[in-house]
Amino acid sequence: MAAKIDPTRRVTLAGLAAGLTALPLGPLLALDEPGLHARALRKGLVFGCAVEARPIQADGAFRDAVLREAGLIVPTFEMKWGQTEANRGATTYDKSEAIADFATSHGLKLRGHAAIWHQNVPGWVPEALGKPDGNSIFASHVLDVVGQFRGRIAQWDVVNEAIEPKDGQPGSLRNSIFLKTQGRSYIAEAFRAARAAAPEAQLYYNDYGVEYATPYEDERRRATLALLGDLRRQRLVDGFGIQGHLKVGNNFDAERFRRFLRDVADLGVAILLTEFDVNDSRLEADVGTRDIKVADHARQFLDAALDERAVKGVVAWGLSDRYTWLNTGVFRRPDGLRSRSLPLDEDMARKPLWNAIARALDGAPVRGPK
Ligand code: XIL
Repeated sequence: MAAKIDPTRRVTLAGLAAGLTALPLGPLLALDEPGLHARALRKGLVFGCAVEARPIQADGAFRDAVLREAGLIVPTFEMKWGQTEANRGATTYDKSEAIADFATSHGLKLRGHAAIWHQNVPGWVPEALGKPDGNSIFASHVLDVVGQFRGRIAQWDVVNEAIEPKDGQPGSLRNSIFLKTQGRSYIAEAFRAARAAAPEAQLYYNDYGVEYATPYEDERRRATLALLGDLRRQRLVDGFGIQGHLKVGNNFDAERFRRFLRDVADLGVAILLTEFDVNDSRLEADVGTRDIKVADHARQFLDAALDERAVKGVVAWGLSDRYTWLNTGVFRRPDGLRSRSLPLDEDMARKPLWNAIARALDGAPVRGPK
């Protein structure tokens, strides 16, 4: 098949040439290679990415890249409570609907993220939840946001980041506004409301800090298994989302991680990597070396993860370095350079990290029919 010439490809070629000296193997990033989702599909897996409404509407190069690489999208923040109901009762779904429309019109799967999260809570909520009718406000929120997209969302992150051992609460639960006002049953209650609002959706518990080999993450894994077991016994949870915000320099122990995945799978819970990216802030400035180290770190993690058959796929937290949350706040590189945490560079060219994901998907065992 003759290669189509388009502006994106020319940029891709330039990016490829720039990176070649640093690459250890031949033409790693062949331009006509299928996108990540196409490779995932061959294995019965999914590849997707988080998107924001604005670039989906206004950045054609990014939009095309999403359509080339992804089979699923998830809004970065448009479905969070702080965005949908900043002012009590004035619910707005314009931005999340724009993302949902994009998914529908291009045949992409859609994830919902996140019905209940301790961050991005509207200013009016903490006080309201503490009142006698606080419980109905909590449940109405879940019914409302999940119900809004009923029939259109494959999977919902119903509760996000409910575990924090440092808070010293029973079950290592995070001492969030939800725990403080509703008690520990808030988690099950959110799942019950989500099930009622969208019975066809797969309901996920989503969290971070279960990837690395530290005593702190050991405790987080232990608490996560206990929580998932509890929710599973009540038939409330279908899946566990492992965020997978990696950081080069952290200690990854493939055996320990695989054992954890098996323990989750043994509960009958599906697993998805939901927010995959690789923080490069400990690495040197040189782009070639940085990209290789990022790709190597990712590959170890992805090979272990995708080998477990309960793992259903990979969702990256963004797609191109043009839009990564790691250029903001505490995550910024100390030298001020921009992060290279995602599979495509700022010009939408495929990077060694893209290649690492592609090879990990290619190496994964084929999943049977769902
Ligand atoms: C982040 C978004 O990427 C940012 O744009 C936003 O300002 C804050 O939230 N874990 C999660 C995500 O579950 O919702 C977070 O997303 C990243 C960490």
